[in-house]
Amino acid sequence: MSESSPTEQPPRSPYEILGDQGIKDLVAAFYDVMDTNLEAAEIRAMHAEDLGPVRSKLTAYLVGWMGGPPVYQAIAGTVCLTDPHAPFHIGPRQRDQWLMCMDEALERIGASEELKTMLKLPMQHVAETVQNQETSDPAPRDPNIIAASRT
Ligand code: HEM
Repeated sequence: MSESSPTEQPPRSPYEILGDQGIKDLVAAFYDVMDTNLEAAEIRAMHAEDLGPVRSKLTAYLVGWMGGPPVYQAIAGTVCLTDPHAPFHIGPRQRDQWLMCMDEALERIGASEELKTMLKLPMQHVAETVQNQETSDPAPRDPNIIAASRT
């Protein structure tokens, strides 16, 4: 005999919890934090002056990533984030600035504890995937600086 209770709900995806509008609000809050919080100034400086295009792209990306339709994949042909981030130095400090913006954005939209817990590890994981440097500070490019450090 089945013991499953009629009140038991199947687990919901972050997309089902937030919906398209919720994800749009989250991304708007995310780039507002990046644009105004000085702790994220370093990664803000990597982005174009106009945050409109990247706002649309991250919204499309997160819709699919959170369990909705694969709209970013339909536009970009892939969900791989390596190429678009390759021009930027993304080490542990830059990764943590990005995650700080996302944590603050989740607070600003009033995300539930359930949703924050659901997203915590996967967000860390995707940010680690985007990270492309082991160190936070780019190596000095001036050959005289390298020569000086050898003496
Ligand atoms: C780990 C720290 C990260 C940094 C410093 C970073 C930085 C950037 C920068 C500088 C751009 C280019 C923006 C522009 O052209 O104005 C970009 C694009 C983008 N980022 Fe990130 N990013 C990070 C993590 C992530 C993560 C975790 C995701 C997804 C969950 C993501 C999704 C995207 C998308 C979808 C784009 C647009 C790509 C395209 O042109 O198709 N980023 N990011």
